[in-house]
Amino acid sequence: MDKYLNIALPKGRLGEKVYDMFEKIGYPCPSIKENNRKLIFENEELKIRYFWVKPSDVAIYVERGAADVGVAGKDILMEYKPEIYELCDLKLGKCSMAVAAKKGFIDDRNKTLRVATKFVNIAKEYYQSQGRDIDVIKLNGSIELAPILNLSDVIVDIVETGTTLKENNLEVVEKFLPISARLIANKSSFKFKTEIIEDIVNKISTAVDNND
Ligand code: PRP
Repeated sequence: MDKYLNIALPKGRLGEKVYDMFEKIGYPCPSIKENNRKLIFENEELKIRYFWVKPSDVAIYVERGAADVGVAGKDILMEYKPEIYELCDLKLGKCSMAVAAKKGFIDDRNKTLRVATKFVNIAKEYYQSQGRDIDVIKLNGSIELAPILNLSDVIVDIVETGTTLKENNLEVVEKFLPISARLIANKSSFKFKTEIIEDIVNKISTAVDNND
């Protein structure tokens, strides 16, 4: 078995904050701060290896054991339900999953609601819980365009500051799921690398509590 602990970080601003947290709790890897396009960084002494992964792919790396631990958004965990352990809430990258529509939109419950989203499963579950029939339209980005061009009636998407909705004359109908970044672990890694993973969880949980 790999002696290293492999850590998948979500590439981007959130990932940088997550790395700072790992550094603060005693798992530094200074070379990661050097500004280059490398994706893998090792601390030989601590036997840890970080790599930058597209945020929506972190759970796949962890589920399949290419990474022992990683940080993924609750949105991705809810949408794909990967077979992983969710260890703790980092309370970073906070946003909401929301239904949004054109300003003044009124839902005609006699009609099937057309819902555009990247999060097909989350949207289906939400509307099932509401007893509402929907026609899901899967998009890959710029979801806000759909109601404007009458491709859909509403969207189910992530809202952080609300700026994207506002600048496109849309408004939140309902925020129904709070999202934040979660520390996750591969199930068998957790069994075989328990000590180091538990050390990380304990120290990160304390750091998160102190940030509150
Ligand atoms: C997300 C989301 C919204 C936007 C919300 O998009 O899909 O478009 O952020 O942020 P705001 O409330 O602060 O404006 P992302 O940047 O992930 O790009 P996407 O178009 O690929 O979904």
